[in-house]
Order: sequence, then structure tokens, then C-alpha cells
Amino acid sequence: MKTIIEPFKIKVVEPIRMTTRDEREEYLRRAHFNVFLIRAEHVLIDLLTDSGTGAMSSEQWAGIMRADESYAGAVSFFRFKDRLTGITGFEHVLPTHQGRASERLLFELIGGKGKVVPNNAHFDTTRANVEHSGAEAVNLPIPEAKDPRNRHPFKGNINIESLEKLVRRVGPERIPVVMITVTNNSGGGQPVSLENIRQARAVCDKYKLPLFLDACRFAENAWFIKQREPGQQNRTPAEIAREMFDLADGATISAKKDGIVNIGGVLLVRDEKLFQDASNLLILTEGYVTYGGLSGRDLEAMAQGFEEVLHEDYLQYRIRSTEYLGEKLLAAGVQIVEPAGGHAIYIDAKHFCPHIPPEQFPGQSLVCGLYRHAGIRAVEIGSVMFGGPGRPAPEMELVRLAIPRRVYAQSHIDYVIEAIGELFEQRKSLRGLRIAEAPPALRHFTAKFEEI
Ligand code: F0G
Repeated sequence: MKTIIEPFKIKVVEPIRMTTRDEREEYLRRAHFNVFLIRAEHVLIDLLTDSGTGAMSSEQWAGIMRADESYAGAVSFFRFKDRLTGITGFEHVLPTHQGRASERLLFELIGGKGKVVPNNAHFDTTRANVEHSGAEAVNLPIPEAKDPRNRHPFKGNINIESLEKLVRRVGPERIPVVMITVTNNSGGGQPVSLENIRQARAVCDKYKLPLFLDACRFAENAWFIKQREPGQQNRTPAEIAREMFDLADGATISAKKDGIVNIGGVLLVRDEKLFQDASNLLILTEGYVTYGGLSGRDLEAMAQGFEEVLHEDYLQYRIRSTEYLGEKLLAAGVQIVEPAGGHAIYIDAKHFCPHIPPEQFPGQSLVCGLYRHAGIRAVEIGSVMFGGPGRPAPEMELVRLAIPRRVYAQSHIDYVIEAIGELFEQRKSLRGLRIAEAPPALRHFTAKFEEI
């Protein structure tokens, strides 16, 4: 059957309301053409992020009621820890309030001036935390990743040759960790193959370097491996995920993605000394090691979410429904990063708005146009997010439509397809933008723009 059915029934609903075009024009101006500054109640379909925006299951809500809120040694912590150890094999599991807290702990401990951190594609907070420690963040994507039309099955792979060259050039002593982001959020939500992780592991073994995963979307990555990697078809997503983690020395995880929770994160490490140091730093700045800045109920929700995310019917629906959005946009003539990503579709804004040069932020212009036209909120992943003084212009100007987990039904997605198709017909009306005001780091969150 071709129909994608959501593998759940709806028990609680939250109304969303339409606004008029005039209202949206006003909201957009008041937000200085930055959709992060728009109130969520003025958004009809919110595809800003898949992070922390998922719908929890009845079992997760039940866990929330059951939770143990003891300061130390809570039952909920052990349920959380046992679940994470069961999935990943890691004995040392630290809860944190979200992904970037895990990143901050890690890079405060192993980063620093003179260090270099390679990654297939750093997410913006990962890069910011690496750089905040004084270290340099280097992206090493494969060449195929730079071409939106290239349908390489594992476009998220780290470039093994460039990795080895980098290690030789700067010297292994300056590389505190090699990171691989699964799936690679900044480059199109593309997966990384097991073979590629094994090859990166071999380079790390050769130069005695630790390998860490940024494993926010590990289950989606495992599903892609099952679908696309030769020899993996008969394994469960859980078995594949376990092999991914077995190849690593640690992981930072934002549970707001494949943990299907509204808040939470994890830091996994194998090294005893690093675990002790991270525990001490966690206590100093986040909270005691059995809650890490969260409540017991958050730990319960994570324990259950990490279990549900590996269900095959869920992953089948999840990845297929994102792919459906991608197929329909391509059919309407809209160029996206091909093939479709796991958690999001990335529109090629250079193709959508060829009349707007990169320095006038075609992606941001498209984001504004989409909100104005249909009340849909997306996010720019291009010169606004990654550019700025002293930074090279990014290879691609993208607009991400991130799909919250278990939140929107197919009719919502059909509405998005129709709206983008209409906007594409009127694309010449989109205008470039200039930055009026921006902070030095992570400027996309708060920058203010003017229309040209
Ligand atoms: N790593 C990746 C690959 C991410 O996508 C994110 C967050 C983080 C780390 C940081 O996690 O938000 O819990 O601190 N990505 C969100 C997004 C914000 O919209 O893609 P966090």
C-alpha cells in the first residue's frame, strides 16, 4: 500500500489557527524578518525545528506521573541509565538538559586553544562550543555532499581521505576528538554509513584518537543504513544503532530529537578519567549526576522515548513521510537536497531565488516568503547561520523544513506542498535582505533584517 499511515491514534489535540496575510505581514515586520522572533501562536505549521517539538506517547506521559523526583539515586535515573546502556552499550551515562550542554561539558574538558576538531558537518551549537573553548572546528564532508542533486545514499559520510590528511597536517596531538554527526543536520539530514564509521574508526585507531558521535538522530541514521547499506536489510534498527555506538568512544546526544522529548540530553563516554571530570563539571554547572539539570519526569520521558524511536513501524512512517514531502516538491520543480533527509527537507534557495545573491540571503528571503504566504515557519541554513565576519561563505544556501515527530498528519504536509508550489510560481516577488543588527555568534537566532 502506498498510503502512509501514522502508526498512532490521536488522544490529545492542540488547536492551530490561521492568520490573514495582512496580519502575517505585520508580524514579520515586527520580528525584523527573523522568524525566530515571531510568536508561535502566529504560526500555522511550525517546521522551524524537529527539536523538542515532538508529541509524547501515552506511555511517556504515564512515566511522567510515575517519576521519582529524589535528588540523588532516583529510580527514574536508573530507568533512564539502563535504557541508554541497553541501546548504546555505554556504562557511563550522564543526563544533561540538552545537546549543547553535553557539547559544552565535552569541549570545556578536551577543547582549548590550538586544538582542532574534525566533523563531517558541525551543527551550529557544536561549532560554537568548539570555538568557544578556543579550538578550531573543521567540516570534512564528502564532495557529493556539496551538490544538492547528487543522490549518493550516504551523503552524510565524513571524508576519510581529508580526515587522514588533516591528522597528518596538524598532528594527532592537536586533535582531541574526531566527531561524526548522524544524521548530518547541517548538510541535509543525510545519513552516514556503518562502513564510513568503521573507516573513521580505523583512522582514529591508527593515530590513537577518540571517536565521538553526535548521535541526536541515531535511530533515523540506523533506519537509512537498514534501507540502503548492503548486507544490513535483515538487521533491526536497534542492532544497527548498537553497532554505530560500539564503534565510538563517546557520544553527545540531544534527546529532543530521537529521544522524542521536549527537553533532555545525554553525554556518553567510555574513558574513566573523562567520565570523572565530566561528572564533576556536571555537578558544578548543571546538577547532580543522577539528574543533570533535569527533573525525574524528564528522565522517565527519555527512557521511554529512546525505546519507542527504534520501533520499525515508527521509523518506516517517519522516514517515508519526509520522503513524500521531498518527492512532491521535486515534482513541483522545487530543487531540494536529494535524496530527502530523515528529519527534514532542505530547499535549495539558490535555485528557488536565482535573482537574490548570497550576500542578500536568498534562504532568509524564502523563509520570510513562506511565512507571509502561508503561515509556515522554516529556518535558513546558509549565509545567515554560517556566514558572518571572518567566515567563508557556505557552499549551499538552504531552507530547512524540519518535521516534528508524530505532530503533523499528511494533510498538513499536503498544505505545505501546495503553499511552496504556489510560492515557487511567484518566486520573482521575493526580495533580498540586509542585516541591520547581529550578535557575534549564533547570529541567526537574534539578527534583525531589513528588506532591500
Ligand atoms: N547536534 C545536532 C546535530 C543538532 O541538530 C542539535 C540541535 C544539537 C547538536 C544541539 O542540541 O538543541 O538540544 O542543544 N539541533 C536543533 C535543530 C536545534 O533545530 O536542528 P540541543
